[in-house]
Amino acid sequence: MDPFLIKIKPERLEKDLLDLGKFGESPGGGIMRPALSEADLAARAWLKGRMREAGMEVREDEAANIIGRWTPAGGSADSPCIAFGSHSDAVPNGGKFDGALGICAGLEALRAIRESGVPLSCPLELLVLTDEEGSHFAGTLGSRAMFDLLAEGEIYRSKGAGQPSFAESLRRVGKSPEEIGRAVRSSSEFLAFLEVHIEQGPLLESLGAPIGIVEGIVFIERFILRVSGRPGHAGTTPMRLRDDALVKAAKIILAVNEAVLAGGPEIVGTIGNVEVQPGVFNIIPGRANLLLELRSLKNPVLASVRGAIQKIIRSQEGAEMHLLLSKGGVRMDPKIMEAIRLSCRERGIACHQMGSGAGHDSMTFQARGIPTGMIFIPCKDGKSHSPEEDIRLEDAAIGTQILADTVLRIARR
Ligand code: GLV
Ligand code: MN
Ligand code: MN
Repeated sequence: MDPFLIKIKPERLEKDLLDLGKFGESPGGGIMRPALSEADLAARAWLKGRMREAGMEVREDEAANIIGRWTPAGGSADSPCIAFGSHSDAVPNGGKFDGALGICAGLEALRAIRESGVPLSCPLELLVLTDEEGSHFAGTLGSRAMFDLLAEGEIYRSKGAGQPSFAESLRRVGKSPEEIGRAVRSSSEFLAFLEVHIEQGPLLESLGAPIGIVEGIVFIERFILRVSGRPGHAGTTPMRLRDDALVKAAKIILAVNEAVLAGGPEIVGTIGNVEVQPGVFNIIPGRANLLLELRSLKNPVLASVRGAIQKIIRSQEGAEMHLLLSKGGVRMDPKIMEAIRLSCRERGIACHQMGSGAGHDSMTFQARGIPTGMIFIPCKDGKSHSPEEDIRLEDAAIGTQILADTVLRIARR
Protein backbone atom coordinates (compact mmCIF):
# COMPACT_ATOMS: atom_id res chain seq x y z
CA MET A 1 0.00 0.00 0.00
CA ASP A 2 1.25 3.47 -0.78
CA PRO A 3 1.69 4.91 2.71
CA PHE A 4 1.16 8.45 1.56
CA LEU A 5 -2.26 8.03 -0.03
CA ILE A 6 -3.98 9.68 2.90
CA LYS A 7 -2.71 12.64 4.82
CA ILE A 8 -4.52 13.80 7.93
CA LYS A 9 -4.36 17.49 8.86
CA PRO A 10 -2.92 17.93 12.39
CA GLU A 11 -4.10 21.54 12.67
CA ARG A 12 -7.75 20.52 12.13
CA LEU A 13 -7.39 17.75 14.70
CA GLU A 14 -5.83 20.17 17.17
CA LYS A 15 -8.66 22.69 16.73
CA ASP A 16 -11.32 20.01 17.24
CA LEU A 17 -9.60 18.73 20.39
CA LEU A 18 -9.33 22.23 21.82
CA ASP A 19 -12.94 23.09 20.91
CA LEU A 20 -14.35 19.86 22.33
CA GLY A 21 -12.29 20.37 25.50
CA LYS A 22 -14.19 23.59 26.22
CA PHE A 23 -17.49 21.81 26.88
CA GLY A 24 -17.73 21.33 30.63
CA GLU A 25 -14.28 22.86 31.28
CA SER A 26 -13.94 23.84 34.93
CA PRO A 27 -11.73 26.66 36.26
CA GLY A 28 -9.12 24.17 37.54
CA GLY A 29 -8.66 22.85 34.00
CA GLY A 30 -10.60 19.60 34.48
CA ILE A 31 -13.79 18.58 32.72
CA MET A 32 -17.24 18.15 34.24
CA ARG A 33 -19.13 16.36 31.49
CA PRO A 34 -21.16 13.44 32.83
CA ALA A 35 -23.05 11.54 30.15
CA LEU A 36 -26.13 13.41 28.87
CA SER A 37 -25.50 16.39 31.22
CA GLU A 38 -25.98 19.89 29.80
CA ALA A 39 -22.25 20.06 29.00
CA ASP A 40 -22.34 16.68 27.25
CA LEU A 41 -25.46 17.62 25.29
CA ALA A 42 -23.75 20.83 24.12
CA ALA A 43 -20.64 18.85 23.13
CA ARG A 44 -22.77 16.33 21.27
CA ALA A 45 -24.65 19.06 19.38
CA TRP A 46 -21.32 20.59 18.36
CA LEU A 47 -20.01 17.17 17.29
CA LYS A 48 -23.06 16.46 15.16
CA GLY A 49 -22.43 19.74 13.34
CA ARG A 50 -18.78 18.81 12.71
CA MET A 51 -19.83 15.36 11.52
CA ARG A 52 -22.34 16.80 9.04
CA GLU A 53 -19.73 19.27 7.76
CA ALA A 54 -17.48 16.28 7.16
CA GLY A 55 -20.12 14.77 4.89
CA MET A 56 -21.65 12.21 7.25
CA GLU A 57 -25.30 11.39 7.60
CA VAL A 58 -25.95 11.68 11.31
CA ARG A 59 -28.55 9.91 13.42
CA GLU A 60 -29.06 9.00 17.06
CA ASP A 61 -30.29 5.65 18.28
CA GLU A 62 -32.56 4.97 21.29
CA ALA A 63 -29.53 4.71 23.60
CA ALA A 64 -28.44 8.22 22.46
CA ASN A 65 -25.42 6.85 20.60
CA ILE A 66 -24.55 9.25 17.77
CA ILE A 67 -23.93 7.45 14.48
CA GLY A 68 -22.32 9.34 11.61
CA ARG A 69 -22.18 7.38 8.38
CA TRP A 70 -20.46 8.13 5.11
CA THR A 71 -20.85 5.94 2.06
CA PRO A 72 -18.16 6.66 -0.53
CA ALA A 73 -19.17 7.34 -4.12
CA GLY A 74 -19.22 3.98 -5.86
CA GLY A 75 -19.28 2.14 -2.50
CA SER A 76 -22.11 -0.15 -1.53
CA ALA A 77 -24.42 1.26 1.14
CA ASP A 78 -25.36 -2.29 2.14
CA SER A 79 -21.94 -3.70 2.77
CA PRO A 80 -20.68 -3.97 6.37
CA CYS A 81 -19.00 -0.78 7.54
CA ILE A 82 -15.72 -0.01 9.21
CA ALA A 83 -16.59 1.87 12.39
CA PHE A 84 -14.44 3.90 14.75
CA GLY A 85 -15.01 6.35 17.57
CA SER A 86 -15.17 6.59 21.36
CA HIS A 87 -17.11 8.50 24.04
CA SER A 88 -17.87 12.18 24.69
CA ASP A 89 -18.58 11.85 28.42
CA ALA A 90 -15.96 12.32 31.13
CA VAL A 91 -15.40 11.20 34.70
CA PRO A 92 -15.98 13.94 37.33
CA ASN A 93 -13.16 16.46 37.03
CA GLY A 94 -11.50 14.28 34.42
CA GLY A 95 -9.24 15.25 31.53
CA LYS A 96 -9.89 16.59 28.05
CA PHE A 97 -8.62 13.66 26.02
CA ASP A 98 -10.08 10.45 27.48
CA GLY A 99 -12.74 9.57 24.89
CA ALA A 100 -12.51 12.94 23.14
CA LEU A 101 -9.34 11.90 21.31
CA GLY A 102 -11.00 8.84 19.77
CA ILE A 103 -13.86 10.94 18.43
CA CYS A 104 -11.69 13.75 17.06
CA ALA A 105 -9.26 11.22 15.56
CA GLY A 106 -12.19 9.46 13.87
CA LEU A 107 -13.57 12.73 12.57
CA GLU A 108 -10.24 13.78 11.09
CA ALA A 109 -9.47 10.31 9.69
CA LEU A 110 -12.81 10.22 7.92
CA ARG A 111 -12.32 13.72 6.50
CA ALA A 112 -8.83 12.82 5.27
CA ILE A 113 -10.00 9.57 3.66
CA ARG A 114 -12.89 11.37 1.97
CA GLU A 115 -10.68 14.17 0.67
CA SER A 116 -8.08 11.73 -0.65
CA GLY A 117 -10.57 10.44 -3.21
CA VAL A 118 -9.21 6.91 -2.66
CA PRO A 119 -11.96 4.53 -3.75
CA LEU A 120 -13.50 2.52 -0.91
CA SER A 121 -16.15 -0.14 -1.27
CA CYS A 122 -17.63 0.01 2.23
CA PRO A 123 -19.24 2.75 4.33
CA LEU A 124 -17.41 4.29 7.28
CA GLU A 125 -19.08 5.12 10.58
CA LEU A 126 -18.01 7.45 13.35
CA LEU A 127 -19.64 6.42 16.65
CA VAL A 128 -20.01 8.68 19.68
CA LEU A 129 -21.02 6.15 22.33
CA THR A 130 -23.14 7.08 25.33
CA ASP A 131 -21.92 6.91 28.93
CA GLU A 132 -18.72 4.93 28.66
CA GLU A 133 -17.54 6.24 32.02
CA GLY A 134 -20.45 5.24 34.18
CA SER A 135 -22.14 8.51 35.16
CA HIS A 136 -25.14 6.21 35.35
CA PHE A 137 -23.17 3.64 37.32
CA ALA A 138 -21.98 0.69 35.26
CA GLY A 139 -20.61 2.42 32.16
CA THR A 140 -20.27 1.34 28.50
CA LEU A 141 -24.06 1.72 28.43
CA GLY A 142 -24.34 2.93 24.84
CA SER A 143 -22.18 0.23 23.31
CA ARG A 144 -23.78 -2.49 25.42
CA ALA A 145 -27.23 -1.26 24.35
CA MET A 146 -26.06 -1.43 20.74
CA PHE A 147 -25.12 -5.09 21.12
CA ASP A 148 -27.87 -6.24 23.46
CA LEU A 149 -25.56 -6.71 26.44
CA LEU A 150 -27.52 -4.72 29.02
CA ALA A 151 -28.81 -6.66 31.99
CA GLU A 152 -32.59 -6.93 32.38
CA GLY A 153 -33.89 -3.64 33.85
CA GLU A 154 -30.36 -2.23 34.15
CA ILE A 155 -31.29 1.14 32.62
CA TYR A 156 -33.90 1.71 35.35
CA ARG A 157 -31.58 0.65 38.20
CA SER A 158 -28.43 2.26 36.81
CA LYS A 159 -27.97 5.44 38.78
CA GLY A 160 -24.67 7.03 39.79
CA ALA A 161 -24.33 9.06 42.99
CA GLY A 162 -26.55 12.15 42.69
CA GLN A 163 -27.51 11.28 39.12
CA PRO A 164 -30.81 10.32 37.50
CA SER A 165 -31.20 6.75 36.25
CA PHE A 166 -30.06 6.08 32.70
CA ALA A 167 -33.71 5.65 31.70
CA GLU A 168 -34.56 9.08 33.14
CA SER A 169 -31.64 10.70 31.33
CA LEU A 170 -32.74 9.10 28.08
CA ARG A 171 -36.27 10.36 28.58
CA ARG A 172 -34.95 13.86 29.25
CA VAL A 173 -33.27 13.88 25.84
CA GLY A 174 -36.46 12.73 24.12
CA LYS A 175 -35.84 8.98 23.92
CA SER A 176 -38.19 6.22 24.96
CA PRO A 177 -36.25 3.96 27.32
CA GLU A 178 -38.83 1.21 26.75
CA GLU A 179 -37.69 1.22 23.12
CA ILE A 180 -33.98 0.84 23.88
CA GLY A 181 -34.06 -2.52 22.11
CA ARG A 182 -34.30 -0.60 18.84
CA ALA A 183 -30.67 0.45 19.31
CA VAL A 184 -29.57 -3.18 18.90
CA ARG A 185 -27.52 -3.88 15.79
CA SER A 186 -26.16 -7.07 14.36
CA SER A 187 -22.42 -7.63 14.45
CA SER A 188 -22.68 -8.55 10.76
CA GLU A 189 -23.16 -4.82 10.05
CA PHE A 190 -19.51 -4.26 10.96
CA LEU A 191 -16.29 -5.28 9.25
CA ALA A 192 -14.26 -3.87 12.10
CA PHE A 193 -14.22 -1.39 14.98
CA LEU A 194 -11.22 0.80 15.84
CA GLU A 195 -10.72 3.11 18.80
CA VAL A 196 -7.90 5.59 19.27
CA HIS A 197 -7.35 6.38 22.95
CA ILE A 198 -4.80 7.84 25.31
CA GLU A 199 -2.92 5.11 27.12
CA GLN A 200 -3.93 6.40 30.58
CA GLY A 201 -0.73 4.95 32.00
CA PRO A 202 3.03 5.65 31.85
CA LEU A 203 4.38 2.85 29.63
CA LEU A 204 4.50 4.40 26.14
CA GLU A 205 6.02 7.64 27.40
CA SER A 206 8.71 5.71 29.25
CA LEU A 207 9.50 3.68 26.11
CA GLY A 208 9.44 6.70 23.81
CA ALA A 209 6.94 4.85 21.57
CA PRO A 210 4.22 7.04 20.03
CA ILE A 211 1.85 4.12 19.42
CA GLY A 212 0.57 1.27 21.57
CA ILE A 213 -1.22 -1.65 19.97
CA VAL A 214 -3.63 -3.09 22.49
CA GLU A 215 -3.58 -6.88 22.71
CA GLY A 216 -6.16 -7.28 25.44
CA ILE A 217 -8.34 -5.43 27.92
CA VAL A 218 -8.57 -6.36 31.57
CA PHE A 219 -11.34 -8.33 33.21
CA ILE A 220 -13.37 -5.88 35.30
CA GLU A 221 -15.60 -6.98 38.16
CA ARG A 222 -17.71 -4.52 40.15
CA PHE A 223 -19.24 -5.32 43.53
CA ILE A 224 -21.28 -3.61 46.16
CA LEU A 225 -20.25 -4.48 49.72
CA ARG A 226 -23.10 -3.93 52.17
CA VAL A 227 -22.17 -3.63 55.82
CA SER A 228 -24.88 -3.33 58.44
CA GLY A 229 -24.59 -2.39 62.08
CA ARG A 230 -26.91 -0.95 64.71
CA PRO A 231 -27.79 2.75 64.48
CA GLY A 232 -28.09 4.50 67.82
CA HIS A 233 -27.49 7.68 69.80
CA ALA A 234 -23.90 8.81 69.28
CA GLY A 235 -23.82 10.60 72.63
CA THR A 236 -25.38 8.09 74.98
CA THR A 237 -24.27 4.69 73.63
CA PRO A 238 -21.00 3.57 75.32
CA MET A 239 -18.25 2.55 72.91
CA ARG A 240 -18.27 -1.08 74.11
CA LEU A 241 -21.98 -1.47 73.30
CA ARG A 242 -21.79 -0.26 69.73
CA ASP A 243 -22.13 -2.09 66.44
CA ASP A 244 -20.82 0.61 64.11
CA ALA A 245 -21.21 -0.26 60.43
CA LEU A 246 -18.58 2.26 59.35
CA VAL A 247 -15.96 0.95 61.77
CA LYS A 248 -16.54 -2.55 60.37
CA ALA A 249 -16.37 -1.13 56.84
CA ALA A 250 -13.04 0.55 57.65
CA LYS A 251 -11.60 -2.83 58.69
CA ILE A 252 -12.93 -4.35 55.48
CA ILE A 253 -11.35 -1.59 53.36
CA LEU A 254 -7.92 -2.24 54.86
CA ALA A 255 -8.28 -6.03 54.61
CA VAL A 256 -9.41 -5.81 50.97
CA ASN A 257 -6.42 -3.62 50.17
CA GLU A 258 -4.09 -6.20 51.78
CA ALA A 259 -5.76 -9.03 49.84
CA VAL A 260 -5.32 -7.23 46.52
CA LEU A 261 -1.69 -6.40 47.32
CA ALA A 262 -1.09 -10.05 48.20
CA GLY A 263 -2.47 -10.98 44.77
CA GLY A 264 0.69 -9.55 43.19
CA PRO A 265 1.40 -6.94 40.52
CA GLU A 266 -1.07 -8.32 37.98
CA ILE A 267 -4.19 -7.20 39.78
CA VAL A 268 -5.58 -3.91 41.06
CA GLY A 269 -8.54 -3.32 43.32
CA THR A 270 -10.22 -0.12 44.43
CA ILE A 271 -12.94 0.84 46.85
CA GLY A 272 -14.06 4.03 45.14
CA ASN A 273 -17.01 5.07 47.24
CA VAL A 274 -18.39 4.69 50.76
CA GLU A 275 -21.98 5.63 51.42
CA VAL A 276 -22.84 5.90 55.10
CA GLN A 277 -26.37 5.86 56.46
CA PRO A 278 -27.86 7.83 58.06
CA GLY A 279 -24.67 9.88 57.63
CA VAL A 280 -24.93 12.51 60.37
CA PHE A 281 -22.82 13.56 63.40
CA ASN A 282 -25.01 12.18 66.09
CA ILE A 283 -26.12 8.73 64.91
CA ILE A 284 -23.89 5.68 64.98
CA PRO A 285 -23.69 4.49 61.36
CA GLY A 286 -26.25 1.74 60.79
CA ARG A 287 -25.18 0.94 57.27
CA ALA A 288 -22.20 1.41 54.97
CA ASN A 289 -22.23 0.54 51.28
CA LEU A 290 -18.87 0.25 49.55
CA LEU A 291 -18.19 0.12 45.81
CA LEU A 292 -15.41 -2.34 45.01
CA GLU A 293 -13.81 -2.91 41.65
CA LEU A 294 -11.21 -5.56 40.74
CA ARG A 295 -9.25 -5.59 37.47
CA SER A 296 -6.73 -7.97 36.01
CA LEU A 297 -5.66 -9.25 32.60
CA LYS A 298 -5.48 -12.72 34.19
CA ASN A 299 -8.74 -14.37 35.14
CA PRO A 300 -7.18 -16.89 37.60
CA VAL A 301 -5.46 -14.06 39.50
CA LEU A 302 -8.76 -12.22 39.70
CA ALA A 303 -10.60 -15.33 40.85
CA SER A 304 -8.10 -15.99 43.60
CA VAL A 305 -8.25 -12.43 44.98
CA ARG A 306 -12.04 -12.43 44.68
CA GLY A 307 -12.04 -15.63 46.78
CA ALA A 308 -9.83 -14.01 49.43
CA ILE A 309 -12.17 -11.01 49.61
CA GLN A 310 -15.23 -13.24 49.88
CA LYS A 311 -13.55 -14.86 52.89
CA ILE A 312 -12.96 -11.46 54.51
CA ILE A 313 -16.60 -10.51 53.96
CA ARG A 314 -17.89 -13.82 55.34
CA SER A 315 -15.79 -13.37 58.48
CA GLN A 316 -17.29 -9.94 59.23
CA GLU A 317 -20.73 -10.18 60.80
CA GLY A 318 -23.35 -8.14 58.95
CA ALA A 319 -21.31 -7.87 55.73
CA GLU A 320 -22.42 -9.04 52.29
CA MET A 321 -20.84 -8.94 48.84
CA HIS A 322 -22.89 -8.66 45.63
CA LEU A 323 -21.59 -8.77 42.06
CA LEU A 324 -23.00 -5.87 40.02
CA LEU A 325 -21.28 -6.41 36.73
CA SER A 326 -18.43 -8.21 35.09
CA LYS A 327 -17.08 -7.07 31.74
CA GLY A 328 -13.90 -6.87 29.71
CA GLY A 329 -11.47 -9.73 29.59
CA VAL A 330 -11.20 -9.59 25.81
CA ARG A 331 -8.27 -10.32 23.51
CA MET A 332 -8.15 -7.95 20.58
CA ASP A 333 -8.36 -9.28 17.05
CA PRO A 334 -4.91 -10.48 15.82
CA LYS A 335 -5.57 -9.45 12.20
CA ILE A 336 -6.50 -5.93 13.23
CA MET A 337 -3.44 -5.75 15.49
CA GLU A 338 -1.34 -6.80 12.51
CA ALA A 339 -2.98 -4.16 10.29
CA ILE A 340 -2.12 -1.47 12.87
CA ARG A 341 1.44 -2.79 13.13
CA LEU A 342 1.90 -2.70 9.32
CA SER A 343 0.51 0.83 9.20
CA CYS A 344 3.10 1.88 11.81
CA ARG A 345 5.90 0.08 10.00
CA GLU A 346 5.12 1.79 6.71
CA ARG A 347 5.43 5.19 8.29
CA GLY A 348 8.48 4.26 10.36
CA ILE A 349 6.57 4.75 13.62
CA ALA A 350 7.72 2.82 16.71
CA CYS A 351 4.92 0.84 18.32
CA HIS A 352 4.57 -1.36 21.37
CA GLN A 353 2.10 -4.18 22.01
CA MET A 354 0.46 -3.91 25.41
CA GLY A 355 -2.55 -4.67 27.62
CA SER A 356 -5.10 -2.08 28.72
CA GLY A 357 -5.90 -1.67 32.40
CA ALA A 358 -8.68 0.76 31.51
CA GLY A 359 -12.04 -0.33 30.20
CA HIS A 360 -13.27 0.85 26.80
CA ASP A 361 -16.26 0.48 24.49
CA SER A 362 -13.97 -1.64 22.32
CA MET A 363 -14.56 -4.45 24.84
CA THR A 364 -18.19 -4.60 23.76
CA PHE A 365 -17.45 -4.77 20.04
CA GLN A 366 -14.82 -7.48 20.45
CA ALA A 367 -17.06 -9.41 22.87
CA ARG A 368 -19.69 -9.47 20.12
CA GLY A 369 -17.22 -10.96 17.64
CA ILE A 370 -16.53 -7.78 15.67
CA PRO A 371 -12.82 -7.64 14.78
CA THR A 372 -11.68 -4.79 17.03
CA GLY A 373 -8.44 -2.93 17.59
CA MET A 374 -7.24 -0.11 19.80
CA ILE A 375 -4.53 2.41 19.00
CA PHE A 376 -3.01 4.01 22.10
CA ILE A 377 -0.95 7.18 22.26
CA PRO A 378 1.16 8.28 25.25
CA CYS A 379 -0.18 10.62 27.89
CA LYS A 380 1.93 12.91 30.01
CA ASP A 381 3.28 11.24 33.17
CA GLY A 382 0.68 8.50 32.65
CA LYS A 383 -1.98 10.71 34.23
CA SER A 384 -5.66 10.24 33.37
CA HIS A 385 -9.04 10.52 35.11
CA SER A 386 -7.47 13.70 36.44
CA PRO A 387 -7.46 17.38 35.41
CA GLU A 388 -3.72 16.95 34.82
CA GLU A 389 -4.33 14.57 31.91
CA ASP A 390 -2.32 15.84 28.92
CA ILE A 391 -0.95 14.69 25.56
CA ARG A 392 1.40 15.90 22.85
CA LEU A 393 -0.48 16.96 19.76
CA GLU A 394 2.19 15.31 17.58
CA ASP A 395 1.25 11.97 19.15
CA ALA A 396 -2.46 12.62 18.59
CA ALA A 397 -1.72 13.32 14.93
CA ILE A 398 0.33 10.11 14.61
CA GLY A 399 -2.48 8.08 16.21
CA THR A 400 -5.00 9.65 13.84
CA GLN A 401 -2.82 8.99 10.81
CA ILE A 402 -2.37 5.35 11.85
CA LEU A 403 -6.15 5.09 12.28
CA ALA A 404 -6.75 6.41 8.74
CA ASP A 405 -4.09 4.12 7.26
CA THR A 406 -5.47 1.11 9.12
CA VAL A 407 -9.04 1.81 7.99
CA LEU A 408 -7.82 1.88 4.40
CA ARG A 409 -5.80 -1.30 4.89
CA ILE A 410 -8.85 -3.14 6.28
CA ALA A 411 -11.13 -1.80 3.54
CA ARG A 412 -8.78 -2.97 0.83
CA ARG A 413 -8.19 -6.47 2.19
C1 GLV B 1 -12.99 3.77 32.06
O1 GLV B 1 -12.27 4.74 31.90
C2 GLV B 1 -12.61 2.72 32.94
O2 GLV B 1 -11.52 2.16 32.78
O3 GLV B 1 -13.41 2.44 33.85
MN1 MN C 1 -12.11 6.43 27.76
MN1 MN D 1 -12.16 7.01 31.29
